[in-house]
Amino acid sequence: MNVLLGVTGAIACYKVCSLVRLMIGAGWNVRVVATDRALDFVGEITWRTLSQNRVERSAFAEQEDWHPRHIALADWCDVFVIAPLSANTMAKLAHGIADNLLTQTALACTKPLLLAPAMNTNMWQHPATQANVQLLLNRKATLLMPEAGDLACGVTGTGRLPEPDALFKQLQAFCPAN
Ligand SMILES: Cc1cc2nc3c(=O)[nH]c(=O)nc-3n(C[C@H](O)[C@H](O)[C@H](O)COP(=O)(O)O)c2cc1C
Repeated sequence: MNVLLGVTGAIACYKVCSLVRLMIGAGWNVRVVATDRALDFVGEITWRTLSQNRVERSAFAEQEDWHPRHIALADWCDVFVIAPLSANTMAKLAHGIADNLLTQTALACTKPLLLAPAMNTNMWQHPATQANVQLLLNRKATLLMPEAGDLACGVTGTGRLPEPDALFKQLQAFCPAN
């Protein structure tokens, strides 16, 4: 299975490193497409090593072949998983904004889209975020819902990314061939 994994600027990037290990262990092909902010949390070399593939971060970088990167990635994947999904990138997806490689690819992608939001409780509960969640659900995106508990930002509430094992089980359940 070819999994395109979008990572965005949320503290839960550290948990997604373990998720990548589980995917690779299951024999899945993983390519990471990262926003610039995601790479502030976990660096390119970590994503590259764990995913065993180069990290995709720019549609405008030098490349060997002529295919636009966002189209090539959208064609390559069987499923597009975005975890962690920041409030910011969620808003872009909901409104069709395509201002980086991850969001361009999402617009170009016709494959199943699985979204795992992670953020501070007030960000999650904000009416703008909840309206964006509804827009994406109406468009048949699958949401892997955030959990309640202690958050890295110091508050207790909803917004926490599920643990890697739990996320992986949800992904496996979604992909029957695996
Ligand atoms: C320490 C720190 C932690 C953050 N954690 C989150 C988070 O968990 N979820 C979120 O939506 N935004 C979080 N942010 C804010 C995002 O990084 C910010 O909105 C950024 O612009 C997102 O960019 P991106 O969507 O292009 O990756 C955090 C910012 C900082 C400085």
